[in-house]
Amino acid sequence: MDRTALQERYGLFGTSPSFVRVLDRIRLVAPTDASVLLLGESGVGKELLAQAIHGLSPRRHKPFVVVNCGAIPEGLIESELFGAEKGAYTGSVERRTGFFEEADGGTIFLDEVGELPAAAQVRLLRVLENGQFSRVGSSQVKTVDVRVVAATNRNLGAEVQAGRFREDLYYRLATVVVEIPPLRERREDIVPLFERYLRQTAERYNTPPHRLDGDARALLEGYAWPGNVRELRNVAEQATVLVRGVPLTASELRPLLRGVPSPQGSSGALLPMRAGAAHDVQPTMGAFGGSGTDAVREREMIYRALLELRHEVRDLREQVAALLTVARVTHDDLDAARPGPRGEGFVIVRDAEPYAPTAGFASSYTPPPVYSEGDEVEDAPFEIADAPSSSGAPLPTVEDAERDLIVQALHRTDGNRREAARMLGLSERTLYRKISQYEAQGVDL
Ligand SMILES: Nc1ncnc2c1ncn2[C@@H]1O[C@H](COP(=O)(O)OP(=O)(O)OP(=O)(O)O)[C@@H](O)[C@H]1O
Ligand SMILES: [Mg+2]
Repeated sequence: MDRTALQERYGLFGTSPSFVRVLDRIRLVAPTDASVLLLGESGVGKELLAQAIHGLSPRRHKPFVVVNCGAIPEGLIESELFGAEKGAYTGSVERRTGFFEEADGGTIFLDEVGELPAAAQVRLLRVLENGQFSRVGSSQVKTVDVRVVAATNRNLGAEVQAGRFREDLYYRLATVVVEIPPLRERREDIVPLFERYLRQTAERYNTPPHRLDGDARALLEGYAWPGNVRELRNVAEQATVLVRGVPLTASELRPLLRGVPSPQGSSGALLPMRAGAAHDVQPTMGAFGGSGTDAVREREMIYRALLELRHEVRDLREQVAALLTVARVTHDDLDAARPGPRGEGFVIVRDAEPYAPTAGFASSYTPPPVYSEGDEVEDAPFEIADAPSSSGAPLPTVEDAERDLIVQALHRTDGNRREAARMLGLSERTLYRKISQYEAQGVDL
């Protein structure tokens, strides 16, 4: 397939010499089985190029599986990639096939490969070396024939130097390295790409296409585009929908660009670009793994991520509740020991809000405050007015009181942690964590 056909088929536009070199390299390497490592900032088109590599290879009629290694919770990554036997990890009730098995005969695209934890790196190395792997929780060796294309916007060489990424794996992945230059290093592509997106969006919304005036072009060409083509596409789409001016002017476009100073400053003076700033810029579409059409898998992963999140929230609630219980016991004890009507001198002005997330969880939920060891009691989510200054008995810290309660509960239950956790209203996991903290501090339980 010649270069123009490739560009049309995969929507990879640009005629700058550096981008053309990228395309030519892709055309050369695609028909082979070599592992390819795509390097480039966020939004430069790594995923599109990976698709092109698959589409130009003899594997094109087999699956192309996209896995965003950075979006999968660390505890699940190995079972997602290599599958798991029933009961291999908490909550796994079914046997599941991994992405590598799904991709058999085809190509797997490991996006953000630099995020892979160490154990997953070992398994990946093995499958790259001889096609062999085993599911999590199984010793049975399986074999697959999968071509690996990986991508990262991190400096993988530096990760290797820092000991966070295996050197042997790096060399396996990087048989061929393709570096995709950021937009600001191929400025001649900016305006043609922008105009293409203006036309496409206008067609989609059935509106007349916009034109750019000279200043608008200069503004776009001078901008640093930290989010690269993804950002450019967004801005062009917004301009089509939001701006009515014909032609589009620099002052209409300027508010749509991030980090561009207002026009009263020297015109065209753009803020310096932060290297790698693009990570947090645009929401990545399809952030979870999946083969594009595999919406079911994507949904399942989102559910699992939500489930994990819910467990975390529940733990936080329990910790806060434990802190509150301890604080109340402390005040009540003190109160009882004092003459005078109960409650006098201690007024809880604002109690803790219930933390249970309700409908609209994702949009309206504000996470509860997180307290770490050693936080002062006045940081707790309630306030105490008029605390008596001369109450005699010194207050134990919340931390001390909490530890005493845990010790008491363990004594009362003869060391039965499950029972003690229930008695204290804590999850077993939280209690275990506390106990190991105390053990590390040398506390006698
Ligand atoms: N050369 C190009 N021509 C046209 N559109 C492009 C080009 N490069 C990227 N795009 C578009 O930019 C967007 C981002 O591309 P892609 O997802 O491939 O980037 P990426 O490098 O994988 O980014 P990230 O690192 O954030 O995952 C997509 O909408 C894609 O269609
Ligand atoms: Mg990507």
